[in-house]
Amino acid sequence: MGKQVTELSIYNESVNVLVGITEPQAPFTLDVFEIENKNIPIITRELWTSRQRQAHSLHEISYRACFKPQLPKFFILRLTTESEIVYDPFAGRGTTALESAFLGRKVISNDINPISKIFAKPRLSPPALTTITERLKSLPKFPTESQQNHLSMFFHDTTFNEIVALKEYFTQKEKTNKLDDCDQWIRMVATNRLTGHSPGFFSVYTLPPNQAASIEGQVKINKKYNQEPEYRNTYDIIIKKSRSLLSDLRDDEKSTLAKFSKTAKFLTRDARNTPEIEDESVALTITSPPFLDIVQYATDNWLRCWFNNLDAKSIEDKISTPSNIESWQKIMKDVFIELYRVTKYGGHVAFEVGEIRRGRIQMEKLVIPIALDAGFHPVGILLNEQVFTKTSHIWGIENNSGGTNTNRIILLKKT
Ligand SMILES: C[S@@+](CC[C@H](N)C(=O)[O-])C[C@H]1O[C@@H](n2cnc3c(N)ncnc32)[C@H](O)[C@@H]1O
Repeated sequence: MGKQVTELSIYNESVNVLVGITEPQAPFTLDVFEIENKNIPIITRELWTSRQRQAHSLHEISYRACFKPQLPKFFILRLTTESEIVYDPFAGRGTTALESAFLGRKVISNDINPISKIFAKPRLSPPALTTITERLKSLPKFPTESQQNHLSMFFHDTTFNEIVALKEYFTQKEKTNKLDDCDQWIRMVATNRLTGHSPGFFSVYTLPPNQAASIEGQVKINKKYNQEPEYRNTYDIIIKKSRSLLSDLRDDEKSTLAKFSKTAKFLTRDARNTPEIEDESVALTITSPPFLDIVQYATDNWLRCWFNNLDAKSIEDKISTPSNIESWQKIMKDVFIELYRVTKYGGHVAFEVGEIRRGRIQMEKLVIPIALDAGFHPVGILLNEQVFTKTSHIWGIENNSGGTNTNRIILLKKT
């Protein structure tokens, strides 16, 4: 059991660094993890919940296993200075990328899943609502050729036509390299609004947006709820969601995003091999990696992939979904070797592993040895304990037994 520390108490250099980057006045618990004759401090405390504001509206795009923007913000503010590079190799919806740009840091965002770039890039270059509205008005509402509605269990015929018309428009624009910021914004919102469990989506009631039901599954859902798809005005829904995403955006934030979106890199690489990133260039990596085979990519994303002309199966084959801890460690070993290459001296990696199997698997203890092998110095382990009031799911695992939700972050430094 750890020791309750209520004042700044300096055990060793690492604890000093950890206490220094958290706020010293709040109480925390200190434990030690011993490995390879090293004492690695484990600090448990509420890192950012107590005084946090609601996250910025621009983050509100759902993505499986995304983390809260407060997490990257916490480390960016404490471990980097303006214009330094912040990187996320497993970017997901782009939480780290957006937060880095908001804070005036250069952005590198990578994810092997191309949907990540579709979601992340447009939010660094948000168009004005009037531009979005005008563009939508100018878009075709019918496909060039009439199409059989093969998704009639999800969409009303008229809604389906509008979706296919949008799909055709983006396909054409992409082919001719003419997809501008506003098109990319509309494509991002449409991809996000395809299916879901409220009238804010194009579909009839179905699973939440990250988990598209199969055709057979949807037929069953319709039968169970005695429902059939009614018309949903896709353009109204896109405008409504755009308005909500843009609602917090101030002019000064817009200018900062405009500046940092110019240099931002969005890669669709395996995190183990990112040749576009220069050696020793990254000041801070913040990321949460995939874990085991919990997320069923092709099943969850087939409709989003259909809309964006992507092959869900081939993406699934590339995504790392290791089925056991050994193969997970093997993949992450190579990820750390690559992270060591791109990190500059004095730079950090904050690696968030979440709570797996109700804390029975302490991922942080699996990460430390491979990170050390790659050359990193372990600063310590930060456990962010937050009390929450509603059921929470982390990587698809229910995690509400004690009413706490723990982020487990391994903080490493290249010395
Ligand atoms: C836990 S999610 C990250 C979520 C992210 N922190 C957010 O806030 O949205 C893990 C991500 O890793 C990606 N991924 C899985 N294997 C990968 C690989 N080998 N290289 C790069 N990305 C990978 C998945 O596509 C997924 O988006």
